[in-house]
Amino acid sequence: MRVLLATSIISLMLCGQLAAAQLKEISGAIAYTEVIEFDYTKDGTRDRVQFWLEFKGSPALGTPDERGYKPESGAIYYYLVDVDNKKQVDNWLMGFSMMDEPPPSGPYPMTDIRVIDHTASFSAFGMNWTVVDGGVGHDKDEVTVDDGFKPRKMKLFDGDLRVVNTQPDAIAEFTQCIACHKQETSDLVAKGGRHTNVGCTECHVGHPPEQEHFYTGCLECHEPHSDQMDEDSCGACHRAHTAAEVRHTWNVPSEYCLPCHQEAAYVLASSRGKHSDIACVRCHQDRHTASVDCQYCHGAPHPRHVMINPDICVACHRSAHDLESAREK
Ligand code: HEC
Ligand code: HEC
Ligand code: HEC
Ligand code: HEC
Ligand code: HEC
Ligand code: HEC
Ligand code: HEC
Ligand code: HEC
Repeated sequence: MRVLLATSIISLMLCGQLAAAQLKEISGAIAYTEVIEFDYTKDGTRDRVQFWLEFKGSPALGTPDERGYKPESGAIYYYLVDVDNKKQVDNWLMGFSMMDEPPPSGPYPMTDIRVIDHTASFSAFGMNWTVVDGGVGHDKDEVTVDDGFKPRKMKLFDGDLRVVNTQPDAIAEFTQCIACHKQETSDLVAKGGRHTNVGCTECHVGHPPEQEHFYTGCLECHEPHSDQMDEDSCGACHRAHTAAEVRHTWNVPSEYCLPCHQEAAYVLASSRGKHSDIACVRCHQDRHTASVDCQYCHGAPHPRHVMINPDICVACHRSAHDLESAREK
């Protein structure tokens, strides 16, 4: 039954030319070392780096030779992240090996992929892997690698792993609703994250014309991040159908960022620089974790060759949150 439903929704989605995201998936990336110092550029200074692993895979869906069948597919990537420049480094072995080409960061194939509840298992690099998604963030995620000798649990330092495993009830409802609500269904499947496990009718009880505008409130199922937030505030940063991505509006009050960023807010408020009164979302626009460049607001006062290089501002102005120390230096 499960497979049949899954197969039919995928074929429906393909017919309707919807984003054919998988309904079972392991994805995300984690840092598996602490920040270490390593001169990958070989310029004599040691760079602060961290090793990351990235996963992306889906088990087979449906039955071979039947319409809508999707074979399994999956890959692992591994690379260094330069922590200070926040960039992925693929060619970190350059200069250390005899190769002219950088060693590939991947893809390294994943096979025998299975997803049960919040757990994914697969083979890669000749070993058996088990990944448990414990929720948002890496704190409760688990990665166990078994080389046939002894299973070892990896220590995780950063990142987030997701195992999406849409429940059969939810899939049944997607198929009922998709005929008339393609956009909503495809949004949910593509970017709903863990909401793909929640059936349409858990959030929409009843249907027009009998019931009008009926939505189950977020707070029926979730705690707010702080007491300042009520039901109406959630929409400033989240959309139910695209819950996996956080995008905020331009008018989010800075108090809403506080529950999770007390330190940043404290530094900004206690600095007596002229940035202290600027709302967080003026500089961190639209997508959560994004920042605009200094040039977004400043065309002056330095010569052009300085102004076009956003990376160098903080060398003299310390940080956007704490400008004052620029003058103290
Ligand atoms: C986690 C709760 C949740 C789930 C699951 C959910 N919805 Fe929604 N839906 C909402 C909310 C809340 C809105 C109001 C608009 C918004 O905030 O994005 C909405 C809006 C809608 C609308 C009105 C159009 C619009 O965008 O305003 C339709 C139609 C709809 N949903 C259909 C569906 C279908 C079909 C499914 C299942 C495939 C589904 N929803 C699953 C919460 C949910
Ligand atoms: C036969 C077509 C059809 C099917 C099937 C269908 N809907 Fe609808 N739905 C509509 C129409 C038509 C509207 C009304 C649009 C309007 O009045 O603006 C609507 C409106 C909605 C709305 C918006 C209500 C609002 O806030 O104005 C939601 C939510 C919704 N449907 C959810 C669902 C869910 C969940 C399912 C599956 C259980 C579903 N629909 C199945 C045709 C359908
Ligand atoms: C019917 C219950 C229900 C409602 C209503 C609901 N959610 Fe959820 N939501 C869930 C469940 C279940 C999860 C998955 C939790 C988990 O796996 O730890 C979830 C997960 C989430 C996540 C994490 C998504 C991810 O994959 O990273 C966000 C964000 C979220 N919900 C926001 C909202 C917002 C905002 C609303 C209101 C528009 C809402 N939810 C309404 C049940 C609900
Ligand atoms: C100012 C923006 C903002 C507002 C407003 C906001 N959130 Fe969030 N929320 C976030 C961010 C950012 C994350 C992701 C944090 C992370 O990456 O760990 C998140 C994560 C979540 C999660 C998943 C993690 C968890 O705690 O289980 C849920 C559920 C959630 N929010 C629900 C809500 C609800 C309900 C509301 C309204 C009361 C709300 N949020 C209002 C920014 C916001
Ligand atoms: C629910 C908790 C939560 C809320 C609310 C929240 N954040 Fe975050 N934020 C996080 C977490 C957790 C991280 C680090 C993980 C990541 O990168 O996703 C983060 C990372 C960031 C980063 C990037 C940090 C870096 O190291 O580059 C910025 C910038 C940021 N948040 C700004 C904001 C702003 C602005 C708001 C308010 C509009 C906000 N956040 C609301 C939890 C939250
Ligand atoms: C004048 C612009 C500006 C304002 C206002 C601002 N930020 Fe930032 N913020 C930045 C820049 C620039 C960075 C460095 C980001 C980078 O390197 O990509 C940053 C970094 C961060 C970081 C990650 C590093 C750290 O210091 O923890 C977080 C979290 C953050 N900001 C949150 C906030 C919050 C919350 C507010 C509001 C209380 C806020 N920011 C106000 C520009 C600003
Ligand atoms: C969202 C707009 C915005 C962004 C982005 C922004 N600033 Fe500013 N900045 C301002 C405003 C507004 C002032 C106050 C101007 C005034 O009062 O004349 C200011 C003032 C300053 C000052 C003078 C400080 C003082 O206290 O006298 C410096 C230095 C400065 N910004 C540097 C930066 C740097 C470096 C960045 C990037 C990391 C940056 N700004 C990003 C809006 C911004
Ligand atoms: C070599 C050091 C240096 C670099 C690099 C630098 N600045 Fe400055 N900047 C200064 C000094 C010194 C002042 C004057 C004292 C002060 O306000 O801190 C200043 C002043 C400013 C002011 C305030 C002007 C006013 O009216 O008060 C702004 C805005 C500013 N810089 C932006 C930037 C931006 C944006 C960048 C990067 C593109 C940048 N600066 C790079 C040293 C530097």
